[in-house]
Amino acid sequence: MKDNIVLTGFSGTGKTAIGKEVARSLGWTYVDTDSDIVEKAGKPIADIFSQDGEARFRDLERQEVRQACAGDRRVISVGGGAIMDDECFTTMKKRCIVVGLEALPETIYRRLAKGGKHRPGRPVRPLLAVEEPLERIRSLKAERQYRYSQVDWTVHTDDLSIGQAAAEVLRGWRAAREVDLQTSRPQPKDIVCVAHTSSASYPLYVGWGLREKVPEILKGLGLEQTAYIFTDDHVVRPHARQIQKVLQAAGLVAHTFVMPSGEATKSLDTAQSIYRWLAEHRAERNHAVLAVGGGMVGDMAGFVAATYLRGLPFVQIPTSLAAMVDASIGGKVAVNLASGKNLVGAFHQPRAVIADVEFLSSLQPRELASGWAEAIKHALILDPALFDLFARKTDGLLALERDTTTQVVRRSVAIKVGVVTEDERETTGRRSLLNYGHTVGHAIEAATEYGAYLHGEAVSVGMMAAAEIGHRMGITPKRVVERQRDLLVRFQLPVTAPGLNPGALEQAISLDKKTTGGAVRWVLLEDIGQTVQRRDVPPTLVREVLEEICSNG
Ligand SMILES: NC(=O)c1ccc[n+]([C@@H]2O[C@H](COP(=O)([O-])OP(=O)(O)OC[C@H]3O[C@@H](n4cnc5c(N)ncnc54)[C@H](O)[C@@H]3O)[C@@H](O)[C@H]2O)c1
Ligand SMILES: [Zn+2]
Repeated sequence: MKDNIVLTGFSGTGKTAIGKEVARSLGWTYVDTDSDIVEKAGKPIADIFSQDGEARFRDLERQEVRQACAGDRRVISVGGGAIMDDECFTTMKKRCIVVGLEALPETIYRRLAKGGKHRPGRPVRPLLAVEEPLERIRSLKAERQYRYSQVDWTVHTDDLSIGQAAAEVLRGWRAAREVDLQTSRPQPKDIVCVAHTSSASYPLYVGWGLREKVPEILKGLGLEQTAYIFTDDHVVRPHARQIQKVLQAAGLVAHTFVMPSGEATKSLDTAQSIYRWLAEHRAERNHAVLAVGGGMVGDMAGFVAATYLRGLPFVQIPTSLAAMVDASIGGKVAVNLASGKNLVGAFHQPRAVIADVEFLSSLQPRELASGWAEAIKHALILDPALFDLFARKTDGLLALERDTTTQVVRRSVAIKVGVVTEDERETTGRRSLLNYGHTVGHAIEAATEYGAYLHGEAVSVGMMAAAEIGHRMGITPKRVVERQRDLLVRFQLPVTAPGLNPGALEQAISLDKKTTGGAVRWVLLEDIGQTVQRRDVPPTLVREVLEEICSNG
C-alpha cells in the first residue's frame, strides 16, 4: 500500500507551500528532505556542494529519501534533482504516489525572479544568474522531462492558487492510488504524461500490449457506449479488428470503417463518405471516434470528429511510429485539397492518445526508419540524453526490442507534448522548433511530388542540409554534424538526395508556407539539444549546400 505522497518538480513550482497544504488537509506529516539534509549536515546545501562535492550530497539525499519513504502518511517534498537519481526514484515509486508539479518556463522564471523563493540552506540556484535565464530553465526542464514523464500524476500549477494546486494533488493521489489497488486497470506507469491545452487535458498512454486496456481507458473517460473505429486496409487486419474485439468483449458497441491506405484518401470526398456512414449508424454526441492507424487515419478521423455534429469525442490509437511520436500529438487534424496538403482542418484535441508500441512489429522497415527520423529530431532539438540513448541502443531499437523501444517512444512523446502544450496554436514560435530539417525536407517531398521519399526520409536529408548550413555559418560544430550523420545512417536513413535538382528545391523552399516576410526561418543546431532560429541564412550558402546534397558523387 502506498500511503505516502512525494512531491517533485522544478524550483518555483511551489513544492513547499503546496506540500504543506496537502499534509494539513490529510492530517499527515510534512517532510522536506532538503531541510533535513541541512539540519543533519549542519551546513547549507551550497556548502555541502562546494566543500564535500555533489556526490556527497547525492549520498545524503539518498539516505534521507529512503528514510522519509519508509514511513507512512507523509507528504514528502524532495529536491528538484532527486528524481533524476535512479536509486532515489525507485525508492519513491515503491512506497509512494509520486506527483510532479509543473509550470511553464515563463512562470518559473517569473516566480523565481520575484524572489523570496530562496530559503536559507537552499543551494544558491544559478538559474537566474546566466545570460539567458529563460533558455536555461527551458533546457534544464527538457533534460528532466523524461523523468517527470514517469511520475504517477502531474499538476500544472501555472494558473492555480496554492489551495487549488493542493486539491489537484489530492485528486491525482486518489486516482493513482485507486489504479494502484486494481492492477488489472491501466497503470499510472502506462501514462507518459497529461497534455494540458486551453480546451482540455488529456493523458498520453505509451506501452507494450496496451490494446488490451483500451476498453478500460475509454470507460475511464466516460466513453462506454458506442465506438466508431477508423482504420485503413493495412492496419485493419493486424490491429483494428483486435481492438474491435476487445471493445465488444467489454460490452461496448464497436463499428469499423476501413479506408484505402495512402495519402490520397485524406480528402473531403472521404470525409463525405464517412459523414454518410456515421449518419446511417445514428452516431451521437457522446459516441467516440477512434483513429486506429498512421497519421493519415489520425488526421482523417480527427477531421471528421472535429466537424460531425460540431465535434465528437476523439481518441488517437496510433499504429505507425511517425503517428506515435508526432502526428497523434498536438490536436491538429486536416484533409488535403488538390491545391495543397492539410489545407482544410481544425484544432481538435483527442480525449486520449493510446500508443501500443507492439503494433510497430508489423510496420514496414522503411516506414519504421521514417518514424525514427522524427524521434531522432526530437533528441537533436531538445534532448541530448535521448540522443545518447539512440546512439547506445541502436541495435535494440532496430530490432524493436521491447523495453528499449518503449522507453525511447515514451521519451520522444514527452518531448513533443512539452513543445505543443507550450505553443498550442502555433503562436509563440516555440512549436516551430519542430521544423528542424523540415525546410529542405518539405522541399524534397514537393519537388518529388510526394512519390520518392517518405516524410521522415526527406526530413533526414533536410536535417543534414540544416546541419551543413549551420556549420558553414559557424553555428553547428563539426562534431555535431558528424554525430547526426552517423546516427541517421545507422537508422538506415538517407543523408543525401542524389539526382534531385537543387534549383527545384530552392524554388520549393521559397514557396513553403513557413516563408514569412520573404525570409525563411531556419532552425539550426548550436549543439545537440540546443537550437537557434535564423532568418539571415545567405541564399548562396543554401544553394551551395543544396548542390552538395543533390550531387551524385
Ligand atoms: N496532425 C499532425 O500534427 C501531423 C503531423 C505529422 C504528420 N501528419 C500527417 O500524418 C500522415 C503521415 O503519417 P504516417 O507516416 O503514419 O503515414 P500513414 O498513415 O500513411 O502510414 C504509413 C503506412 O503504414 C501503414 N501502417 C500504419 N501502421 C501500421 C502497422 N502497425 N502495421 C503495418 N502497417 C501500418 C499505413 O497503412 C500506411 O501504408 C500524413 O498525412 C501527414 O500529413 C499529421
Ligand atoms: Zn515531420
